[in-house]
Amino acid sequence: MTKTEALAALEKEVEADESLPLRNVSYLVFGEGNPDADVLFIGEAPGFHEDRLKRPFVGLAGKLLDKLIGEIGWKREDVYITNIVKRRPPENRDPLPEEIEAYKPYLTRQIEIINAKAIVPLGRYSMNYFLPEAKISRDQGKIFWVDGRKVIPMFHPAAALRAGAVMQTLRESFQKLPELIKTNVVAHGVSGESNLNPSPEKQQDTPNVQTLF
Ligand code: URA
Repeated sequence: MTKTEALAALEKEVEADESLPLRNVSYLVFGEGNPDADVLFIGEAPGFHEDRLKRPFVGLAGKLLDKLIGEIGWKREDVYITNIVKRRPPENRDPLPEEIEAYKPYLTRQIEIINAKAIVPLGRYSMNYFLPEAKISRDQGKIFWVDGRKVIPMFHPAAALRAGAVMQTLRESFQKLPELIKTNVVAHGVSGESNLNPSPEKQQDTPNVQTLF
């Protein structure tokens, strides 16, 4: 089975899963992009525009995401974009812990299929899904290893649209992304979670591991 076929089969499974929350209130926004992407961007949950078009990041925040991707010489079609919760919560409220839990097995499989070089969680909520102890302003733009995968949290584009300083930091982190997906500089020192430790296997695989702290 190709990655495209595996993703299509997974999408059908999500669509058919009657136990999933938000099923009766909004459409499925499974995610889209290059199944062989080097970078997998993960937002929090679809909003109004995403629900209408059944596509992730197509509103104002999405336009900014497209622009930032373009500024580093990539195209939206080169990357893969999805969300932790795959249906829009009513009134754009934050997803509930049980909603995040319910969609988790599907996101996990989506991550496994795409097997990108780096996962870029967009915003605090998405970052804390992978790195519960991390702080967005302190840890955005740094590399972490979570369950053997490289995770580079960044500010949410919607936050950048609200504050010029956030925009500047997000843009700077984006500029570094092509380099960050190649290097193995590891940020560790965020304490308290076992999955925050840099993967020991990765460290052995990559002798030039450095630390930021
Ligand atoms: N914000 C998100 O977190 N995800 C989207 O798909 C759109 C906006």
